[in-house]
Amino acid sequence: MTESGAIPIAGRAAECPFDPVPELYEAQKDEELRRVKVPSPMLGEFDAVVLARYEDVKTVLADGALQMGGSMPYQAGNLLSYDGPEHTRLRRMLTGSFTARRARELKPQIMGAVESSLDEVEKAGPGADLVQLFCTPIPTLVICELLGVPYSDREEFQRRTQVALDFDTSREEQMRQAAEMEAYMAELVARHSEAPGDNVLGRVVRDFGDQLTDTELAGIGNMLLIAGHETIASTDDPSATDGAVEELLRLCAPATILPRQAAGNIRVGDREIEEGERVVASVLAANRDLGADDESLDRLDVRRPPQRHLAFGFGPHQCLGQQLARMELRVALPELFRRFPTLRLTVPHEELDYRTNALVFGVSSLPATW
Ligand code: HEM
Repeated sequence: MTESGAIPIAGRAAECPFDPVPELYEAQKDEELRRVKVPSPMLGEFDAVVLARYEDVKTVLADGALQMGGSMPYQAGNLLSYDGPEHTRLRRMLTGSFTARRARELKPQIMGAVESSLDEVEKAGPGADLVQLFCTPIPTLVICELLGVPYSDREEFQRRTQVALDFDTSREEQMRQAAEMEAYMAELVARHSEAPGDNVLGRVVRDFGDQLTDTELAGIGNMLLIAGHETIASTDDPSATDGAVEELLRLCAPATILPRQAAGNIRVGDREIEEGERVVASVLAANRDLGADDESLDRLDVRRPPQRHLAFGFGPHQCLGQQLARMELRVALPELFRRFPTLRLTVPHEELDYRTNALVFGVSSLPATW
């Protein structure tokens, strides 16, 4: 067993937020599993087995003994709060709404959201903040479509989401907005219960409404809002094409680490995670691990042949919205560069406020000119 010092929860290097801390590269080479102290603002400091090799992360995430457990605060209706048969049951209610076909069907709406966001960027002129005007509204508008938020409510819905996700908003204000959003979600669920629309919430209410409480239904809405939102808004690098999108997902790894707890002993090759141990799987490190020393995987190369990656996780909790996420990115990025071919930052990139220590990586603003 290797015991070593603390590593920051997201494992991102302070000098370059896209890179893993050196300890994660060391952990990839360790023969034994590495145990570290992980300081977490949400959960306090805890001891965890840190997984950094691609094969280890994949094997362990697929192991039924690995559970969400207490790794995340419980929220009714949020898939990440459930394990085992309870998780499967809830997830099955939603999978039909997140197929590749469904994502293709949503393409016109995604295009509409992209165009209206780009109009706003143009209107704001040079210095426009792309996080506020481009990265945030697109997933929000797509979520409105998914949840069946009526057009008349969309502006208010978008405003609330923006305030709740803005880093400059005070903690009290964020809580207030989150409470307002929860109340709105409850109202939306009530509306769908009376007249289920042709969208995710409507379908769940129609097909499974009798198996779910209103709190769970509203929780599903909130989960989709947050899950479908933060991650997309955080993938904001200039490049296009399907291969480039995969390369960006691989290298940015917006969902940087996946926290878990072992509900039984888990074999990892010839090593073992013991029952009760916490586990931190680093997607960021795993996505750069070829199993051989190939340092080229540490660099962004949008023209390289597709590489394996775990940006959408693996196993029972693998991202439900991955086809939709891909579609949003594939539509949004080329349109951005078509509309603004000379797009560039107005500040040196070192001055950007990277969220290095958050579970979802991103920047708080991206002032751009063209
Ligand atoms: C670039 C965008 C995205 C990335 C990188 C991403 C990444 C991930 C990852 C890594 C997980 C697994 C978490 C874990 O195992 O602990 C996950 C789960 C999930 N994602 Fe995404 N996601 C993205 C976009 C979306 C979108 C657009 C939606 C839907 C609107 C969505 C819905 C979900 C849901 C519901 C889960 C929980 C699944 C479960 O627990 O069974 N995600 N996502």
